[in-house]
Order: sequence, then structure tokens, then C-alpha cells
Amino acid sequence: MVKNLKTISFSGLDSQLEKNRSDINKALKNVLDSCQFIMGKEIETLEQKLASFFKIKYAVTCANGTDAITLSLMAIDLKPGDFVIVPDFTFVSSIEAPVQLGIKPILVDINKDDFSINIEHLKSVINVNKKMGYKIKAIINVDLFGMPSDYSSLLKICKENNYYLISDAAQSFGTIYNNAPISNYADITTTSFFPSKPLGCYGDGGCVFTKSKKIADKIKSLRLHGKGFNKYDNKYVGLNSRLDTIQAAILIEKLKVFPDELKKRKEIANFYMKNIDKKEILPKERENSKSVWSQFTIKTSLRDDLKLFLQKKKIPSAVYYPRPLHKQSAYKHFSNKNLTFCNSENASKRVLSIPIHGYLNQKQVKYITDALNNFFGKE
Ligand SMILES: Cc1ncc(COP(=O)(O)O)c(C=O)c1O
Repeated sequence: MVKNLKTISFSGLDSQLEKNRSDINKALKNVLDSCQFIMGKEIETLEQKLASFFKIKYAVTCANGTDAITLSLMAIDLKPGDFVIVPDFTFVSSIEAPVQLGIKPILVDINKDDFSINIEHLKSVINVNKKMGYKIKAIINVDLFGMPSDYSSLLKICKENNYYLISDAAQSFGTIYNNAPISNYADITTTSFFPSKPLGCYGDGGCVFTKSKKIADKIKSLRLHGKGFNKYDNKYVGLNSRLDTIQAAILIEKLKVFPDELKKRKEIANFYMKNIDKKEILPKERENSKSVWSQFTIKTSLRDDLKLFLQKKKIPSAVYYPRPLHKQSAYKHFSNKNLTFCNSENASKRVLSIPIHGYLNQKQVKYITDALNNFFGKE
């Protein structure tokens, strides 16, 4: 280990807290003093700030990123027996939310290079399922590792087929596609404030973004048990899915430093791109799609050896995700045996995410880069 090299953290949460502790403590004290722990004034303040940051009319917070997807599906009236399309290589929430509601998922492969939903596979899966008479109502897209998906193609497909587009931006919060924040494209965009997300709180949290007043109003009701005008007349079967005031207060503080953190992530990604010698392992950015680099995920058939090698050098790394959805015990029966998910399977065997966050210093980034060059230099 290089002398004076501080411990390398995977998410940077410790250094982030160290730097912002006094502002966060003040914000927490205000909530404690107000005793408004549920739906306190910080909720509305945060929602206004999030909507303005994302340049979208409505932001409605909720209890977590999985509920944000569930609430979105409920808001567009999807019913048991409807079908939605879901990428095969993603976090489990993408499939868990529809299945919880009795909605059937149809899995689609991802792109080999950028991990986004594969448009050609999507088109062929839609054709096959239409012939079978399945009522596909929506696509749940995921901007994996921070990279916006191919929204132009997704929107074209949704328009042609009259599908809703729900986009999960839990990993891409803050990113830009075609010069506009990604929330401008889907009917509903969701995010998670899980602590290690690009914008995370200190517990669970989530948010839904939309241009539609009708959808925003319905989600505001659904997250409060389906509340009507009268608190005890519930007009929908809803959920208890409120964001805690304490988490909102923390997020208001973290949103202030978020643009600088994104800038730092970008600089680190640029450094890795330029200085990691083995170019074929690097992630690819598509034209018009600028990643926020929530993860910097490389791909190598030597993944397990590399992970061990990095571990010995005290460099943390993580495998997102070792098993595609079509191979998971709870969901494998949703997989169509006639379809193959080659890119998704390939990714699950090769991906490795290395540290990237706003609090890595230049020495640490260089140390990580040198370790990778050292490992692949010996091949
Ligand atoms: C892409 C994606 N969607 C949804 C979620 C779920 O968010 P939460 O843990 O807040 O429910 C995650 C969390 O890791 C995620 O990465």
C-alpha cells in the first residue's frame, strides 16, 4: 500500500458525512425540535427542490425506490394479468414491484457494451408476445450504472404500441440525455435514496417524477393509504409509503453538494477511461447518453481473480449483479424458455464495479488504476 493512502471506501459515505456533518446535524435538530416526524414541512421543500433540479413539474417522495415503481404501476391502473417488459439484468425491484401486484413480467436482454435494454431484442420479444395475445401495458426501463438508456428508441416503441414508459433512475439520478434531464422522457421516472445511491439519505427513501398532474395527485394519495379529501375516506387501496421527515431534511442538505459530487465522479471516470490500459474492459458511453457513473463497472473473464487481487491491495469492489433475473429462484418461471439472454448472462459472469464517488482523492484513483494495470500487465 502507498504511504499515507487513506482507506479506500467503496461508496464514500463516511467522508461525505465528515465533510457535511455540521449542516446535517443542524437539519436533524430542526426536525427533532419540530416533532413533525411524518409529512413535516421538509417533505414539500424537498419535493420542490427535486422537481426544480430535475426540471420537471412534479416530484412525489415515498418510502423507497421499490415502492416508487409499485406506486407508478398503481397510478397508471395496471391490473393483475397485465404484462410489463423488464430488463433481465438489473436489481430485483424492477421485477418484484410488478409481480407483487399480480402483473406479469416479460424479460428482455441488455446491450453487450452499455448494459441498457437491448432494443432489437425488445422489438422481437414484443412481436412474439403480441402474437400470443398478451396485453403488454408498459416498459419498466432501468438506467443501469448511471447510463441513460436509448430513450429515443424506447419512446418510439411505446408510442407505436401505446405503452407507458416507466424509467427507474435509481442509479442515474442527475444524468442528461440529449441535453435534457432524463426525467423529461418517460411518463414516470423513479428513484431510490438508498444510502449508497448517487443521491442517498440515511435510511430508505424514494421518489416519483412526472409531468402529469393526474399521476402526481394519484401517487400523493396512494402513498398515504389511498387517502381521499377526508382522511378517513380512502378512495384507493394504497400503501403506507411516506418518506420520513428526517430523511427529507438530510436529502435537502445532500442535494446542495450533489452537483459537485457528480462533477468529481465524472473526473474520476475520465481518469479511469484514459489511464486504464486494457481498453476492452472499460464501460462504453453512447452518443447523447452521459453517465453519472453511479458505478464504474468493468467487464473481464478474470473477474474473480481480479476481485481477489484488488482485495489484497485493500481496494474494495462489488459484483452487480451475479445472477440475472431469469435465473433467480423466485422469478425463473417467468422466463420464456425459447428466449436467450446471452448479454445478460455474459455480464453476470464478468462485471466488477470499482470505487467511484465524490470523495476519492487523486492518489487513491491512481492507486486503483495502477493496480488494474498491474493485474492485466501480467496476463
Ligand atoms: C436500479 C434500482 N432500482 C430500484 C432499487 C431499489 O431501491 P430501494 O432499495 O430504495 O427500494 C435499487 C436499489 O438498489 C436499484 O439499484
